[in-house]
Amino acid sequence: MSIRAVIFDLDGVIVSTDEYHYQAWKKIADEEGIYFDREINENLRGVSRMESLEIILKRAEKQYSEAEKLNLAQIKNDFYRELLNNLSPADILTGVMKVLEQLKERNIKIAIGSSSKNTPFILEKIGLGSYFDAVADGNEIKNSKPDPEVFLLAAKKLNIQPEDCLVVEDADAGVEAALAGGMKVLGVGFASNNEKATFRAKDLSVVDINEII
Ligand code: BG6
Ligand code: MG
Repeated sequence: MSIRAVIFDLDGVIVSTDEYHYQAWKKIADEEGIYFDREINENLRGVSRMESLEIILKRAEKQYSEAEKLNLAQIKNDFYRELLNNLSPADILTGVMKVLEQLKERNIKIAIGSSSKNTPFILEKIGLGSYFDAVADGNEIKNSKPDPEVFLLAAKKLNIQPEDCLVVEDADAGVEAALAGGMKVLGVGFASNNEKATFRAKDLSVVDINEII
């Protein structure tokens, strides 16, 4: 297989910020009296902040104006950022550094492809601010996953053709995005159950990247 670059999703693949996203949305939903649980939360994986809010508001009794929505998204992000303040390199998920180092040893390019506008902040907090060859994130795209835009942008920054890229994702929306972009995809965590993924693993600690690429 001609894999020349691996593009990693951030939330839920490199670091378990997905739990903090849940806690922050849960606080907003509870304050607004809207039903929200972990199962509904699974639909927010890989999806942008405003689209996530729309999914939550589907269960609201009242209609929200655009200004109210922007305000709720801002409050959610402020709380989420407070939670992120505790992040450190110790929060990097199991197996991640082993895989990243194996890729570096083999001269395979590595990038981040994340819908999150907090990507630069998170990478700094976990000590990987200048570790990747390219970073494409929610600040640079119009369409979030399942649209392939963020992965295609990462490939472009690396100067590698999409068909030579492998994406690592924990979201069904991210698996779809990678495939739509003509890339192969390794589903981990929640996406390890996604049958459309080219490869699947519980987490990166059980992956020998040299067997895949
Ligand atoms: C994705 C997360 O990585 O980023 C989503 O999986 C999140 O849950 C999205 O909504 C946007 O994140 P942020 O940090 O810009 O609110
Ligand atoms: Mg994710």
